Amino acid sequence: MAIIYNDKTKTFMLQGKDLCYAFWINDLGYPEHLYFGSPVGADDLRFTRAFGATSTAATPPGIDNVPSYNAYPSELSFFGTGDYREPAVQIVNPAGDRLCELLFDSYDIVKKPKISGMPSMDGGDTLVIHLKDKINGFAADLYYTVYDDCSVIARRAVYKNLTSGDIRLERAYSFSLALPDRNYEMLSLYGVWAKERHIDRIPVHHGVVSIDSKRTSSSATLNPFIAMLRPDTTETHGEAIGINLVYSSSYVLKAEVNPDGTTQLTGGINDFDFNWRLAPGEEFETPEVVIAWSSDGIGGMSRAFHDAYREHLINKKYVKASRPLLINNWEATYFNFDVPKLCAIADAVNGLGIDTLVLDDGWFGKRDNDSSGLGDWVVNDKKLVGGIKAVIDHVHSLGMKFGLWFEPEMVSEDSDLFRAHPEWAIGVPNRKRCYSRHQFMLDLTRKDVRDYIVKAVSDIIEQNNVDYVKWDYNRNVTESWSYCLEPERQMEFAHRYALGLYDICERIVNGHPDIFFEGCSAGGARFDPAIMHYFPQIWTSDDSDAEERTKIQYGTSIVYPLSVMSCHVSVCPNHQTGHTTPFDTRAIIAHLGATGYELDTTKFTDEEKAAVKLQTEEYHKIEDIVLEGDLYRIDSPFDSEFFTEAVVTKDKSRAELICYRRFASVNNEIKRVKMAGLDPDAEYMLEEKGLRAKGSTFMNVGFAPSYPHSDFAAVKYHFTKV
Ligand code: GLA
Repeated sequence: MAIIYNDKTKTFMLQGKDLCYAFWINDLGYPEHLYFGSPVGADDLRFTRAFGATSTAATPPGIDNVPSYNAYPSELSFFGTGDYREPAVQIVNPAGDRLCELLFDSYDIVKKPKISGMPSMDGGDTLVIHLKDKINGFAADLYYTVYDDCSVIARRAVYKNLTSGDIRLERAYSFSLALPDRNYEMLSLYGVWAKERHIDRIPVHHGVVSIDSKRTSSSATLNPFIAMLRPDTTETHGEAIGINLVYSSSYVLKAEVNPDGTTQLTGGINDFDFNWRLAPGEEFETPEVVIAWSSDGIGGMSRAFHDAYREHLINKKYVKASRPLLINNWEATYFNFDVPKLCAIADAVNGLGIDTLVLDDGWFGKRDNDSSGLGDWVVNDKKLVGGIKAVIDHVHSLGMKFGLWFEPEMVSEDSDLFRAHPEWAIGVPNRKRCYSRHQFMLDLTRKDVRDYIVKAVSDIIEQNNVDYVKWDYNRNVTESWSYCLEPERQMEFAHRYALGLYDICERIVNGHPDIFFEGCSAGGARFDPAIMHYFPQIWTSDDSDAEERTKIQYGTSIVYPLSVMSCHVSVCPNHQTGHTTPFDTRAIIAHLGATGYELDTTKFTDEEKAAVKLQTEEYHKIEDIVLEGDLYRIDSPFDSEFFTEAVVTKDKSRAELICYRRFASVNNEIKRVKMAGLDPDAEYMLEEKGLRAKGSTFMNVGFAPSYPHSDFAAVKYHFTKV
């Protein structure tokens, strides 16, 4: 990893693992992008410069006969001085004009600093480019970090008011990135409840293609991620650039094709329903954007993200540690449980390799359905005679751990908390609030609300010896407004909510380092890198049907490592889809992540118990490959009847291949699978077939998996280097 500055050419070259990023400070003092892609020599790259027609373009202020700012490939585009593309920053100066001309002032190379109040990647040497408006002193610092162990660049911007009056930020994106032409397609991950992170891929076109969230949450609707792919980029070949925001509130990501045939990417905090007052001397930090590069297709890009997040973003204590293998009572009981029932659910799996009981929604306040009780984090002793302590003591006596569900950011209208503090719920005075799942949201922009949440949750987990917390978030903001913000600051709400969320995560999650925290959001509706920083695993979807999960898990893996995906084996017919899939298939698909079970174990037959025991034993044998290994997606369930994936240890000594076929027919076509990710020159044993061959043989010749003859059939194979 190196950050090289060439004084003669004024070029900054960042060399990371398998990538290079270069820009120079041009004669105007403008940071002009030169290159992003595979490693190249530390050469003078200015020969790559090219400009389209400039006849009617505005020149930079006061300088005639040079190209317009509109023509330069930009490191940070700004508004009002001839650049008509999407600006990364837009301000209102004290005098009311909206100009800022951000030109090079100086640079530093530093150890990567943390972003105050927001999660970000760690490690890596960091280049800081200081830009400044020479007239009024408004300034921006651009941060770039490269790594020698993963093919990503982390970028962000910090905006500074060095003027003597208030500045209003109307837009404060994290980055601009210039791409050399317009021959790209944009891949994004869309979804909805129980159908998270499905894949869209469309060509970019003249004008702006964008995705965003206006929900004060990163959302299931569109994950804060885009990939820019060449039209011929496939899973295994071709250029892929991935852009992922480390952010959980409203965001936007844009690709703009310009008349000169170049493409500019911008994005960050959504400027829709946003502005921010910056007093003299104040700074505004933007969330980090992680930009991955691969010349090995979408698969290579995914592995770059997986490595980056496992090495530099997710809690080091847990990221590679064996996970709780749990039984969750939600689909077993919903709200209808008592102490004997919960103990019986734990008893039924004792000795089967399941080591944690997670008690889901309904243990607190007045909460016998989803219309009341949120916010009252007091054990419901009437429902749970002897309290949760009775369950916890029993579970601990079995040698198992205990997990507990919370939805800390929420309040029910029918709750003691709402009756005492209606002003703590987000809403506008004199207007009714929208209900969503019958509940309201707490105003995390307020310190008193955050203090209440931190104390309420901490008291329960500390007083009850809780080992594991499932942190849910089941609705999005409406009527965003806070009693504590001045009228002209109300459009700071969405970002302040994110800062409030990170504050309570710091205090609750990081404040209890020995408790394992899982994230959740009405299934997987807040599955983003910032959440991942605090929660080493996230519930991927409320849809636990194995067939649907092949798509959800495939799409999620485009960016996020398998270790973050929480995946459960549930009952059939499936509660969401009504599908009946084989028990083995459900386990094979759920074991491609951090796994668990979510069904009424008291109804297990002896045969099912034996199956679970075997499944958990087999899971433990491959858990390290799933959590730490490289993922190779082979067949996509979006494009075929098949879902085929391989996970391979980093040293390529062991691998697992998962093969899934949607429907059985009288004469199923022969489907050969070519293994991926092995060392081509090493000999491997394919255990289930008793076959010994070179990695290159398994990867080039392939073999036909022996699917059981049923719909939704799955089979797994194991390769060991000999
Ligand atoms: C959400 C979660 C579920 C479950 C319920 C409880 O829907 O995604 O897993 O915890 O809430 O109300």
